Amino acid sequence: MLINNDTIIKDSNPLIRRSSEKVSVPLSDEDHILLMDMLQYVRDSIDPMKAQELNLRPAVGISAVQIGILKQLIAVSIDYGEGEKSEYALANPRIVSHSVRNAYLKNGEGCLSVANEHEGHVFRHARITVKAYDALAKKEVTFKLSGYEAIVLQHEIDHLSGHLFYDHIDPTNPWKEDAEALVIE
Ligand code: CO
Repeated sequence: MLINNDTIIKDSNPLIRRSSEKVSVPLSDEDHILLMDMLQYVRDSIDPMKAQELNLRPAVGISAVQIGILKQLIAVSIDYGEGEKSEYALANPRIVSHSVRNAYLKNGEGCLSVANEHEGHVFRHARITVKAYDALAKKEVTFKLSGYEAIVLQHEIDHLSGHLFYDHIDPTNPWKEDAEALVIE
């Protein structure tokens, strides 16, 4: 499936607010190929040459609803440099528990489906436990995440219920702080 900045739907499209359906696992060939295409998008998007050539906007994650498909599929690729990567290709991900402590990115968040700037702190949980079907390991998994990766997964899982990052920004005080929270640079 062709995924680029023209085929990714924006928040002006009401589909982005819809909830996604669970998929059956193990994944059908069709769902597996779709999820691998999504993963390839995020991998390629941070390569400046490929991004220009293929019309990709840099991102660390994408959900199927962003290409107009209401299925609970998300892909994440975080490149730490020197060959170190953290990747997730998940079906039906759920946050089954989380810390009381919050975390937020110091400079706020962005999204492939959001063209306009929405400045402000997006409060999320500092630690989460996720249950999902892992399409790379081809099995059901439960794992814990903290800090940046926890934030990225929460952003993508939010898409599955039609939530966007700026829904979490306090409109009256967008840069408000939380002294107890983990602040990620
Ligand atoms: Co997003």
